[in-house]
Amino acid sequence: MAEFNLVVEEVLGYVFSEDGVYEPHEITFTVEEGRRVEIGDIVCIEHPSKPGTPVFYQVTEVPLRRKARDYEEDLARLGRPIIDSSRNYPRARARQIGYYEEIMEFSEIGEKEPLMLIEHIIPLTPVYRPKSTILETLLHPSAPSIELGEIYPSWKLTLKLELPKLLRQGLLVVGGVGTGKTTTMLSILVSLVREVLSRGGKPHILIVDKDGEYGVKELLDAVGFGEYYHVDVDEVRVESIRDKERYAREVLRRLGYYDRRSKAAKALYNTIMELEEEDLFPTPDFIASKIIPRIREHDVRGELLARASKWKAMEWGRVEEEKVSIGELVEKLKSKTIVHVDLSKCRNIDRAFRTLRELLARIYGEVLRDECFGCIIVVDEAHLYCPERGGIEISEGVRELKKTIELIATTGPRNGVTLFMATQRPSLISKTITTQLGQNIIAHKVEDVDLDRIREIMGPVATKIAVLPRGWALVKSLATKIRQPLIVRVRAVAKPASTGKTAYERFHSNIKSENTNIT
Ligand SMILES: Nc1ncnc2c1ncn2[C@@H]1O[C@H](COP(=O)(O)OP(=O)(O)OP(=O)(O)O)[C@@H](O)[C@H]1O
Ligand SMILES: [Mg+2]
Repeated sequence: MAEFNLVVEEVLGYVFSEDGVYEPHEITFTVEEGRRVEIGDIVCIEHPSKPGTPVFYQVTEVPLRRKARDYEEDLARLGRPIIDSSRNYPRARARQIGYYEEIMEFSEIGEKEPLMLIEHIIPLTPVYRPKSTILETLLHPSAPSIELGEIYPSWKLTLKLELPKLLRQGLLVVGGVGTGKTTTMLSILVSLVREVLSRGGKPHILIVDKDGEYGVKELLDAVGFGEYYHVDVDEVRVESIRDKERYAREVLRRLGYYDRRSKAAKALYNTIMELEEEDLFPTPDFIASKIIPRIREHDVRGELLARASKWKAMEWGRVEEEKVSIGELVEKLKSKTIVHVDLSKCRNIDRAFRTLRELLARIYGEVLRDECFGCIIVVDEAHLYCPERGGIEISEGVRELKKTIELIATTGPRNGVTLFMATQRPSLISKTITTQLGQNIIAHKVEDVDLDRIREIMGPVATKIAVLPRGWALVKSLATKIRQPLIVRVRAVAKPASTGKTAYERFHSNIKSENTNIT
């Protein structure tokens, strides 16, 4: 028993079951007067048959019990309520985390999983608050890790994510608009880069960034000079297509032919099918110089050329030859720490989807080919790239991209490529993705429509996230020591770059520049 005193700080209450049943997986205890217990607290009892061994529980609910008396409601209705707090019985319900066989073993927990208590609990067993040093050991990861933030409610303990496990499983960050998803993802990336570099390694990260928020100083400083490569998605060269049928479909669509019934479309299709080239480029220049001159029906050439030049006028930026190729991008990712693909200035989202699909497929091919190359693929606003059927309308480009992302989510991690995804609409994202990445989930507050999906992944405890303030999250992760969900205040190591100005801000900036003109 002397040993047990080294583990615990104070008695918090006593296990008390109103229905007289004392199950080990969940306990209810009556809180002693003057003590405070909050949701998320880690408490312990002494093992019923292994003296000195603490069995840990996490508080999930703190209901208050007060026996009802008939006349109380009558008095309240008459405006004379009896406020007698001595009749309030604060309780707490807590779910088992488990225990470690030997206290000595406990100080070096290592990779060990906790054991679960399966015998019944002795009624009125004291419930204790463990010493914070013990809690630190309990939460301390055995492998290299990064700090995510402080754990509610004491804010004294830090939640750490073990990197080897995180990279074996992937990560999903969810949350409604403006709840802190991008801040969380960026902070994790900065910490991860710092940790891997400090251990003499070198991470490789591809960031797919819809809003251009990831190019922040903290991340650039963390990776170091010359290790960051930024590219606008429109500046990536369109790749050749080898499958003629796919090429024809693509080109006809780009020229504005949605079926093959017109004479010009038919002539173009037939000519493509007769081509002998292996690499076909879906660009207006290639069509104008390599395909249209070979069309036998002279009278349709003019119409096709006009459509090709209209397409060219819609393409934006430099000519194809000056752009960076996908192969070069993969090489950049292999040599640099970060390749940042920015979609914020994208003029043609369909083209961007195809570019991304090609890029991800090439990266996957490369990790399979080169055993020394591994990388993380970060996708923010993920529901846009791999939507669940029935949600966002799926174009062909997205369908292909989604397939590639799902392939990486399911078979990538064991081959060296891991997905970190963030989304504001978890119910619109492919279920394959949420199932795979749901092993490590950081959930900020979400809208009611998405809560059911989160409950499917995290269990009923997810209901709590409906009340979390910005920057707080419920974290359920196999990369943490404790697998029970914990509420964490994420430490913002970096914040997203502010993107553009709102209309309101622009109203004011106009006035300012007019004033400057006058003076
Ligand atoms: N952990 C945090 N600590 C402090 N402030 C935070 C934290 N997380 C977010 N914020 C603040 O909230 C703002 C919105 O955060 P962020 O852009 O990360 O949210 P988001 O969920 O990605 O938003 P969106 O839905 O627009 O993508 C940030 O500008 C930041 O100032
Ligand atoms: Mg965001």
